[in-house]
Amino acid sequence: MVLLNFVLAESALELVPREIWSRPAVVSDATRRERKAGEILLDRSFHHSAMERLRDSEKRGRPDLVHITLLDVTGSPLYLDGRVMVYVHTYPDTVIEIEPKTRIPKNYLRFRGLMEKCLVERPTTGLLRVRQMSCSALLKMVGPGGAYGLSVRGKQSSLPDFAKRVADEGNACVVVGGFPHGHFSAETARSFDELVRIDSRPLEAHVVAARLIYQVEEAIRFND
Ligand SMILES: C[S@@+](CC[C@H](N)C(=O)[O-])C[C@H]1O[C@@H](n2cnc3c(N)ncnc32)[C@H](O)[C@@H]1O
Repeated sequence: MVLLNFVLAESALELVPREIWSRPAVVSDATRRERKAGEILLDRSFHHSAMERLRDSEKRGRPDLVHITLLDVTGSPLYLDGRVMVYVHTYPDTVIEIEPKTRIPKNYLRFRGLMEKCLVERPTTGLLRVRQMSCSALLKMVGPGGAYGLSVRGKQSSLPDFAKRVADEGNACVVVGGFPHGHFSAETARSFDELVRIDSRPLEAHVVAARLIYQVEEAIRFND
């Protein structure tokens, strides 16, 4: 039975947006890969110059961060036991719902290919399912447990205490930002019941995710 809903929110994972399809950095990358511009992932490593004028540019184009975080979450014993439901909410409000126990490719190029196929074909059944919805709509759908946003701007809590509350609650949603810089949008932040800080320093999303899941495992071990 699922114990924890893990949401990676406003993630820097999206297909190249139409407004920059004709920019030279995008055209050359798409040509090199023999793909259409709208069918490849936006990636700052290749499209930096084309991204300059994109809205919220600093939060976008880092699919590698999403990959690392998913590997940490899906490699955990809690996930392997089928007790974590993972949702990747992306900057353009696409949600990828990952069936519990689904394995994510460890090789980045295979992950990129899988995400591109998923975002182009938008399957509604199978191991990876795609919906168009905001993070706040997702949290309402996943309810009725509490929705906890994690942020360096939140109220300080010790991670073991926070993980124990989440484990005791049973069907809580924990939301980590899947972006490299910046903070949750005002709309996303409004949908949290609480905003929690687990360290005074800003940490990487994958570090926060791995530590949280480990502490939830410890909390249920203690409860058992
Ligand atoms: C690389 S950070 C995003 C940058 C942002 N300036 C920040 O630190 O919140 C990625 C995500 O990790 C989580 N995070 C990072 N540091 C945290 C902290 N000290 N406490 C709680 N969550 C944190 C947040 O969910 C954040 O959105």
